[in-house]
Amino acid sequence: MTAPAPAARMLPRDTFQEQVAVVTGGGTGIGKVIAHALGAAGAKVVIGSRKKDVLDKAVAELEAAGIAARAIAVDVRDPAQVDALLQGTLDAFGRLDVLINNAAGNFVCQAEELSPNGFRSVVDIVLNGTFLCSRAAARHWFAQSLPGCIVNVIATYAWTGSPGVVHSAAAKAGVWNMTMTLAAEWGARNVRVNSVAPGIVVTEGASTHLGYDDPTVQKAITSLIPSRRLATAEEVAGAVAYLASPFASYVNGSCFTIDGGAWLNRGLTGMMEDVALRVK
Ligand code: COA
Repeated sequence: MTAPAPAARMLPRDTFQEQVAVVTGGGTGIGKVIAHALGAAGAKVVIGSRKKDVLDKAVAELEAAGIAARAIAVDVRDPAQVDALLQGTLDAFGRLDVLINNAAGNFVCQAEELSPNGFRSVVDIVLNGTFLCSRAAARHWFAQSLPGCIVNVIATYAWTGSPGVVHSAAAKAGVWNMTMTLAAEWGARNVRVNSVAPGIVVTEGASTHLGYDDPTVQKAITSLIPSRRLATAEEVAGAVAYLASPFASYVNGSCFTIDGGAWLNRGLTGMMEDVALRVK
């Protein structure tokens, strides 16, 4: 089963006309594709992550696609660097309209083997980083009485749990709650906060950190997904762009799951079918 054409094309090219979007973790993987989707729909884009050389390469690709883009090195765990990301965005483009909290850290490790610093590092990037970036953006919007929009990239294991990723799953669950809490708190001040929960997208980062690059593993995973294929980054980016756009102006505090139905685990009878297939 093949994926349809990039979902980002569903939005008119002037959807984000004059608007500026910051995408954390925007130099690679899903974040880079999100930056392209927002840019293709008219946004100027700032991408932030720790690796400036990677960011610069991604900016060159965005500019080659006709998108105005800047790279700002940032470790989202550091409040001062997050403030500098916001200031750098305002210096470069004069405004901020959309924040995509996509930066993440992850690796597979059994919980009992995970060091305190390993747990802290991932929670710091995913949960604290999302808070710091959201806080910085909201303070700017509130000070100027401007509307704003935040989309957080989480994962369905925020509510299903998943072995080997206690740090990331706990952090993503925190971000999902933060999505709802900030939507409830900031909605009256014209700031929307939503999440997307992507299924497995094979990116270089995920392949390296989570081991999806093995075709045998991919085939086995695919057989358990109702849609019988993995996600494309473009499908995820299209949903992010929609949620960030004025077309989603009444969507607040939601999570849009884009995983081909995987998190349902096909219900009891689906699980029985899978077990039956394996037992044969
Ligand atoms: N298994 C077990 N522990 C690990 C690990 C692994 N694969 N990778 C890192 N750690 C531990 C380290 O040992 C260290 O703990 P210690 O001080 O007790 O030894 C701790 O995590 C921090 O590692 P370090 O590399 O110093 O931190 P960092 O801040 O530079 O990196 C990470 C953050 C750990 C999340 C790193 O994996 C990263 O930078 N990832 C970014 C990219 C990414 O994960 N993308 C997600 C794609 S899905």
